[in-house]
Amino acid sequence: MSAANDTNRTTTNRHRINSPISPPTPKSSYKIASIPGDGIGPEVIAAAVEILKALTKKLSKFKLEFTEFDWGTERFLKTGSYTPEDYLEVLREFDAILFGSVGSPSVPDHISLWGLRLAICQPLQQYANVRPTRILPGTKSPLANCQPGDLDWVIVRENSEGEYAGQGGRSHVGCDHEVATELSIFTRTGVRRIAHFAFNVAQNRPRKMLTYVTKSNAQRNGMVMWDEVVQEVAKDYPDVSVDHMLVDAMTVRMVLNPRSLDTILATNLHADILSDLAAALAGSIGIAPTANLDPTRKNPSMFEPIHGSAFDITGLGLANPVATFWTASEMLHWLGESEAAISLMDAVEKTCAAGIVTKDLGGKAGTKQVTEAVLGEILKL
Ligand code: IPM
Ligand code: MG
Repeated sequence: MSAANDTNRTTTNRHRINSPISPPTPKSSYKIASIPGDGIGPEVIAAAVEILKALTKKLSKFKLEFTEFDWGTERFLKTGSYTPEDYLEVLREFDAILFGSVGSPSVPDHISLWGLRLAICQPLQQYANVRPTRILPGTKSPLANCQPGDLDWVIVRENSEGEYAGQGGRSHVGCDHEVATELSIFTRTGVRRIAHFAFNVAQNRPRKMLTYVTKSNAQRNGMVMWDEVVQEVAKDYPDVSVDHMLVDAMTVRMVLNPRSLDTILATNLHADILSDLAAALAGSIGIAPTANLDPTRKNPSMFEPIHGSAFDITGLGLANPVATFWTASEMLHWLGESEAAISLMDAVEKTCAAGIVTKDLGGKAGTKQVTEAVLGEILKL
């Protein structure tokens, strides 16, 4: 992502706030917290740390100092908690967090998710979840006639509220008359700040196009407010062309007309669903990266592959490390080290172009072979 600082912009819009996107502070050394977590998380994080160490050594411009944390389901089963009590203070000492995955067959998913991932994203106000998606060279979209370049999107997901607000409850559990509520919470502040973020992303991409997605025909309160707020924010970005889609129709457009889309803004749940579709259309969930950003930079941001723990292939050496390498490249961009970020993606793309890819992309390579090939490309820099 290359969302630039635009704090100098002036406006007459009553809802205008200064851009929430702060520029990075260059450093000679960055402290990275690594949380490999569950399933294939440790395998892909180990591969990414190896790659990042080789890259920084080769470029010798800045250092990355890694500290690994054993926060995950094993810790939960032993101690009753995914993290120590002071985990937020611990994380605030770092420049960024590199996260593997959380989730295990031995713990219900809603416990593990709220115990670790959301327990980090929400209090650290990582309200912008950014998911770039494109077809890497040498790989194929399942869509007929869709070539690299025909699908090049950035999905901006609201990451702090909405359908993931965690409000609701259950009464008369297990009875026939049991009642359960799951409340979506949308705030004007929350929608406005993510809309500004998304417009910044769109404005810094060549096509300057933003499509925002809601379901304001059926959901007549929060979704209608979303539409209104996004349209208000749009006035501050006259150079960005904007259009609106209902989420159901959006799935059709993504499949039938991928070229017509560029930057996509959606709610927490809608973007969660659309980003899995996007990853599949781009070739595999095994390549898809995520950045959980606090655009104000008051808190460290967290970077993770989308794919999750994948227990069916854990420990077999088959996990595709590309999602985590791309994630690591997004982390370098966010730290302001764009040259290193681009070099890393170049090395990954050359490896894919050479056909050294895992099974999910139609290849025969394992995690180790892909990692070694990317390392080889880095050494050629
Ligand atoms: C994602 C994942 C998570 C989410 C899961 C693991 C709860 O699907 O990052 O897209 O829904 O946020
Ligand atoms: Mg998801």
